[in-house]
Amino acid sequence: QVVRLEDYAPSEFLVEKVHLTFELAERDTVVKTLMSLRRNPRSTNREQTLFLDGIDLKLRSLHIDGTPVADRDYRLDESGLYLFGVPDVFELQTEVIIQPQDNTVLEGLYCSGGMFCTQCEAEGFRRITFFPDRPDVMATYTTSIVADKKRYPVLLSNGNLLSSEDLPDGLHRVTWHDPFPKPSYLFALVAGDIVFEEGAFVTASGRSVALRVYLQRHNLGRGTHALEALKKAMLWDEKVFGLEYDLDLYMIVAVDDFNMGAMENKGLNIFNSKYVLADRETATDLDFQAIEEVVAHEYFHNWTGNRVTCRDWFQLSLKEGLTVFRDQQFSADEVARSLKRIHDVRLLRTVQFAEDSGPLAHPVRPEAYQEINNFYTATVYEKGAEIVRMLHNLLGKEMFRRGLELYFSRFDGTAVTIEDFVKAMEDAAQVDLSQFRLWYSQAGTPNIRATGNYDESSKEFCLRLQQGCAPTPGQSDKQPLHIPVAIGLLNSTGTEMPVCEVGHSGTDCDTTAILPLKKTEQVFRFKVSERPVPSLLRGFSAPVRLTYNYSDAELMFLTVHDSDPFNRWDAAQQLVTQVIMRGVDRMADGQAFMVEPVLIDAFRQVLHSSSKDRGLAAQMLMLPSENYLVDQRLRIDIDGICTVRRKLREALSDALHDEWASVRQACIKDTSAGYGFSPEEVGCRSLKNVCLSYLAAQSKAGFWPQVRQWLDEADNMTDRLALLTLLAEVENAESQTAFAQFYQRAKDIPLVLDKWFAVQSGARHPLIVDKIRRLLAHEDFNLCNPNRVRAVLHTFARGNLGGFHAPSGAGYHLVGDYVMKLDRLNPQVSASLAGSFSAWRRFDNDRSALMKEQLNKMFSTEGISRDLREIVQRSLQDM
Ligand code: ARG
Ligand code: ZN
Repeated sequence: QVVRLEDYAPSEFLVEKVHLTFELAERDTVVKTLMSLRRNPRSTNREQTLFLDGIDLKLRSLHIDGTPVADRDYRLDESGLYLFGVPDVFELQTEVIIQPQDNTVLEGLYCSGGMFCTQCEAEGFRRITFFPDRPDVMATYTTSIVADKKRYPVLLSNGNLLSSEDLPDGLHRVTWHDPFPKPSYLFALVAGDIVFEEGAFVTASGRSVALRVYLQRHNLGRGTHALEALKKAMLWDEKVFGLEYDLDLYMIVAVDDFNMGAMENKGLNIFNSKYVLADRETATDLDFQAIEEVVAHEYFHNWTGNRVTCRDWFQLSLKEGLTVFRDQQFSADEVARSLKRIHDVRLLRTVQFAEDSGPLAHPVRPEAYQEINNFYTATVYEKGAEIVRMLHNLLGKEMFRRGLELYFSRFDGTAVTIEDFVKAMEDAAQVDLSQFRLWYSQAGTPNIRATGNYDESSKEFCLRLQQGCAPTPGQSDKQPLHIPVAIGLLNSTGTEMPVCEVGHSGTDCDTTAILPLKKTEQVFRFKVSERPVPSLLRGFSAPVRLTYNYSDAELMFLTVHDSDPFNRWDAAQQLVTQVIMRGVDRMADGQAFMVEPVLIDAFRQVLHSSSKDRGLAAQMLMLPSENYLVDQRLRIDIDGICTVRRKLREALSDALHDEWASVRQACIKDTSAGYGFSPEEVGCRSLKNVCLSYLAAQSKAGFWPQVRQWLDEADNMTDRLALLTLLAEVENAESQTAFAQFYQRAKDIPLVLDKWFAVQSGARHPLIVDKIRRLLAHEDFNLCNPNRVRAVLHTFARGNLGGFHAPSGAGYHLVGDYVMKLDRLNPQVSASLAGSFSAWRRFDNDRSALMKEQLNKMFSTEGISRDLREIVQRSLQDM
């Protein structure tokens, strides 16, 4: 059951054209398929048997070139249909029945909120009809949909509308045609009583495109932000890459039940409603930003993914890494660039680094899988995007654009590999990327040890960089990678000095240089007039862990003076992390907690100068997450980390009480004009709420009634949620009323109700496991809705480390039980939740055993899904 990259072979048959006809009904939907097949000239196999994928399909009829296929000429099994003795060119006609109502896996055709919708990536199309369901089979699709007109007045599919007509018995039929050949995973269908918000866009070459965001009637008006984001993304891609949209219509549909974020189906994107619906009453600033990102991401796929697609699923990062990079660049241009980078690097360091150092580690281009859905990972997406970013920096933006142009001119309309992409970049820029390619095949996060030495007499600063990478499953020996390390050098007054390598002629040295680290160890020498403080890995120029023996004072210095805002933030993070980890070590030695004065000074400084850039100050003042801290050491001291982090928060709260209060006031004063969405206003809100969270950590008398009052006065979800988050960690009358009131406002708005659940699941609270049990028993909890499940269970298992890792094992037990419950309904969701146990080896013996016990329990349960089996098996395998 293992699929391997090395076994790839072209499809024996190709499909040129498909005509699908859907007769929609909740119980039994009939799918009639007519397709023209022909033998693939590129296939070496001459077998007379054709295999078509198909899962949970009831076959009603089967014809080849109009003649029924005899019983002895075909065979069915649980994975599909075998046709024996087929001709080289023929038409195949099939009729199957499927049951959208009972579809809880949310792949293929399913029902959500009274609507029909589809999700076909990666292998969902085989749940709709028999088909060679692989991305290198590209066909043009015509889709007819027949449904009850009253209940399903809107019938959508890919491409352009061809015709629509009324039929007897209250039915109607609509036919769509998509002129662009596409793989089956980009097929989409939507039917429902839905409404749309409309916009328009004229492309650079003059095509008018109608833009529609479809929503359930009660959500009308909440799609405007997504619509605006779409227009911005369209304009951006024309400006930056010269890429235009290619159909007359672009549709986005919001659905409530969705496994992932969104899907880039040609001309008909289907979105988790979380990434469409927003207004200030129901969505936070972060939600607004996420919507912009995801809308842009799916739009950008039209070129990087749809026009040029993946040959096979091992190439997933070809479209995902590249498209994430593109959406990151877009967002960086829309919001404050450094904040966007901080946000992305945080995600990479907490989620991707953890993945890359555990048993689930895999290369950005994996070599084997059991279930492809398990590979829609932070490694394929986020690390994949980092690789493209490094290419962008190595080549420069001009050459990168030319490389992309070459890629499209070579491969438009085809299904290709990551190697094809790299080669296009290499050819366009005339650079040698042979070593660089290793980033795609070698798993694990590289470690760089940097050491610096200044020689007074020769005025030379010598920087030694050593790289290494721990073994990952199946890869014990690692080769050195080509790592671009961006650095700057600061003098004692904090001024940037030119970074001039010894031997460099000329005077045109920049203040940032990119060092090409290619060997296991390399030494770089620079001419500088005085001992520098190096600013390393600027802008996070490579997805690595870099350590340098900074003193606290040097980190403080960088926090204030570094010209790279990202590195200013990173210096602050390193300083706090250093202090926390020293505290953890002291605690492990039985010493008492004490706050180091250096940290109070650093925070005071940031607070004092916070009005210059409030968004950045807010990020610098947030303590590193527990997830980031546990990644600092191989052996995880979870109690130490949670305790020291909490005590530090309390100490900072106390020591800087007046500062928190006054900075908060200053923010309020500057936003008193009302609610707005500019970067300054967003920055103000985030700093204000960071201050508030410190004030809450050592609350004075009368604080909680105050919080309640602010909650009543809040006029937007960002502030309201920040306040509710504080209230979730205390047990008092104010908190009880606040939650009851919030629930009353939320109960009919699923996305807001998700927040109500998530805030409670993420709360640091001594009785959290009981609390989670109560949430799971709540009448609004729903195991079939992935957003609701994630709000409670993923928030708890992935975000509430103190609770999940409760020493009794109660958290593990609860989550383990729910993995099993979920697995019967939706394996994608159960498998991702099971990933919470994968780091079991790094915990203390007691916890480790308890976590392993849950994995073993899952493993020995009969009938678990392939998704879950793979995650469990890999989690338990020897490293
Ligand atoms: N291609 C989608 C994206 O934009 C993700 C779809 C993933 N679906 C899945 N079932 N794994 O990233
Ligand atoms: Zn994507």
